[in-house]
Amino acid sequence: MADHQQLAKSFEGIGEDYDRYRPGFPVAAADAILPDRVDAVLDLGAGTGKFTELLVGRADRVIAVEPSVAMLDVLRAKLPTVEALEGGAEQIPLPGGSMDAVAVAQAFHWFDRDAACAQIRRVLVPGGTLGLLWNHSDPECSWDRACHRVAHPAVSDSADATTESAADELPGFVFDHRAELGWSERITREDYIRRWLTVSSFLTADDDTRAGMVAELDSILDADPATAGRDDFTLPMVTDVFVYRADAA
Ligand SMILES: C[S@@+](CC[C@H](N)C(=O)[O-])C[C@H]1O[C@@H](n2cnc3c(N)ncnc32)[C@H](O)[C@@H]1O
Repeated sequence: MADHQQLAKSFEGIGEDYDRYRPGFPVAAADAILPDRVDAVLDLGAGTGKFTELLVGRADRVIAVEPSVAMLDVLRAKLPTVEALEGGAEQIPLPGGSMDAVAVAQAFHWFDRDAACAQIRRVLVPGGTLGLLWNHSDPECSWDRACHRVAHPAVSDSADATTESAADELPGFVFDHRAELGWSERITREDYIRRWLTVSSFLTADDDTRAGMVAELDSILDADPATAGRDDFTLPMVTDVFVYRADAA
C-alpha cells in the first residue's frame, strides 16, 4: 500500500484524464466561499482548475498554485486569464497579505496541515477567507459508497476519506460556517470507472491490483438494481464546504 506522500504525488503524471473524468463543483460552493467579488483569490492545489473556473469573474486576480506541471498545463490551456504558478501549500509563492480569499478543493488532506495553515494565513489579509471543500458520495447511494470502499478500504462507512481532515480548529483561523450541498450528475458507466482510475489509490496500485479493483467496481455495478445493465446512471453527490476567517493577529 502506498504511503501518504506517494499518494499525494500520484497526480504528477495525470492532467487531461483528471480534467475529463473528475467531477466539477456546484456554483453554490463558490457562492459559499466568495459571496461578494474581491480583489484577489487563490486556488491552492488547483489541479487542472476544476474549481478555479468557478472563481473566474469573482475576483480581479484569480491565482492558481499547483505542484503538478501536467495539471498546470491543462489549467493554463483552459483558463488563460488565471495566473498559474508552480508551487505547494507549504511554501506558497505569493507575498504576505496579498489574498482576500484562499480556496482548497479536494486537496487540503494532502498538505502538511500546520505548515500549510501558516502559509495560507501569511498570504491572506487579516479576516480573509479560507474555504476548504470536498466532493463526497451521498450516504444514501449504496453502490457509490461500496465503490468508495474499494478505493479507500481503511475508511469506515460513516466517515469520508478526505473530509475528516477538516477540523473545526485550524491554527490561525476561526471557523465560520459549513455548507453541505447536494447535487447530482448523469454519468456513463465507462466514465464512472475511468473516474476511479484517476483516484490516488488506483494511480499508485500495480497493474494486477488495479485490475482487481476495477473488477470489484464492475461487480458492484452489476449487482445493484440502480446500475445493473445500464450504460449510464444518475450519481448523487455532496459537496462539503468549510469556511474559516483568518485571525486578525
Ligand atoms: C484531488 S486533486 C484536486 C485538484 C483540484 N483542486 C480539483 O478539485 O480538481 C489534489 C491536488 O492537490 C495537489 N497537491 C498535492 N500535494 C500538494 C501540496 N503539498 N501543495 C499543493 N498542492 C498539492 C495535487 O497535485 C493535486 O492537483
